[in-house]
Amino acid sequence: MGSDEDPKEYDKLRLIFRKLLIVGNVFGLSMIFLMLVWALKYGGGFDWNDKIGSVNIHILIMLTFMLYLHGHAAIIYRVLPNMPKYGVKLMHASIHFIVCIGIAVGLAAAVQSHYLKNAEHFYSLHSWLGISAIGIYYLQFLGGFICFLLPMTPMSIRNTAMPFHKFAGQSVFTLATGAAVTGVMLKAIGSLGIEYPKLPAPAMALNFAGFLVLLFAIIIGVLMSDHRFRRRPRPEGELLLTKTGGGILGGGDGDTSDHAD
Ligand code: HEM
Ligand code: HEM
Repeated sequence: MGSDEDPKEYDKLRLIFRKLLIVGNVFGLSMIFLMLVWALKYGGGFDWNDKIGSVNIHILIMLTFMLYLHGHAAIIYRVLPNMPKYGVKLMHASIHFIVCIGIAVGLAAAVQSHYLKNAEHFYSLHSWLGISAIGIYYLQFLGGFICFLLPMTPMSIRNTAMPFHKFAGQSVFTLATGAAVTGVMLKAIGSLGIEYPKLPAPAMALNFAGFLVLLFAIIIGVLMSDHRFRRRPRPEGELLLTKTGGGILGGGDGDTSDHAD
C-alpha cells in the first residue's frame, strides 16, 4: 500500500471518507427519524408540561444536538479539506455553539420531567454519563474558544493545547454515545416495564434505535480519529507551523491537523 501522502492514495482515502460519511449519515438520520416516529406513535408525543412529553423532547434534542450535530462539528475539518482553515474553524466553533444551546434545552427538558414526576434527580447511570458529557463539553467549548479563537492567545499555548483539545473532543463524543445508549435502555425499561421481554413493536423500535446510535457513533468516531483522514495543510493561506511535541496524546508525527492556527 502506498503512503497516504501519495496523491493517488490520498484520492482513494477521500473516496472512502465520503462513502463512510454517507453511511454514517444514513445511520444518524435513521436514528433520529426512528425515535421521532417512536415518540409520536408509541411514546406519548411532545409536551413540555407533561412528564412523558418532556422526556421525549429531551431524547430528540439530545440525539440531534449532542450526537448528530456534535459529531459533524468535530469532523468538519476533514469534511471540507479545501476550504480555508479560518472559515472551517468558524464553522466548527459555530456548530459547537449551537450544540451548547441545544443541550442546555435538552437537559432542562429532562430535569423538567423529573420535576413533574416529583422524582429524584441525577441518580441513574445514564444521568451520570450525561451530566459528565455535558460538563466536559462546555469546558471543551470554553477551552477551544480561549485557545483557538481569541487572537491574542500565543501560538505556543495553541500548539500545546491542540492534542489535548482533540483527545478531549474524541472522549466527550464517546461519553455522549454511552449516555445515549443507556438513555435508550432507560426509556425501554421505564416505558415498557414487564412487557419489554415480549418484544412488542415499541421495544423493537427502541432496540433498533439504540443500535443505530452505536453504528452512527462508530462511523463518526472512525472519521474523527483515523489519522489517514486528517486535514492536510493547504500550500497557500495557512501558516506552516512547527510540529507539536510527541507523546501519548499525539502530535510530533507530522500530523498537519495538529497545527493550531
Ligand atoms: C446523548 C446525550 C444525552 C444526555 C447528555 C442525557 C442526559 C440526561 C440527564 C443528565 C438526565 C437526568 C435528568 C435528571 O435527573 O433530572 C437524563 C434523563 C433521562 N434521559 Fe437522557 N440524555 C441523553 C440522551 C438520551 C437518550 C437518547 C434517551 C432515550 C432514548 C434518554 C432518555 C432519558 C430518560 C428516560 C431520562 C429520565 C427521565 C425520567 O426519569 O423519566 N436520554 N438524561
Ligand atoms: C470555540 C470553540 C472551538 C474552537 C475555536 C475550536 C478549534 C479547533 C481547531 C483550531 C482545531 C484543529 C483542527 C485542525 O487543525 O485540523 C480543532 C479540532 C478539533 N476540535 Fe475543536 N474547537 C472548539 C470547540 C470544540 C468542541 C466543543 C469540541 C468537542 C466537544 C471540539 C472537538 C474537536 C475535535 C474532535 C477536533 C479534531 C478534528 C480533526 O482532527 O479533524 N472542538 N478545534
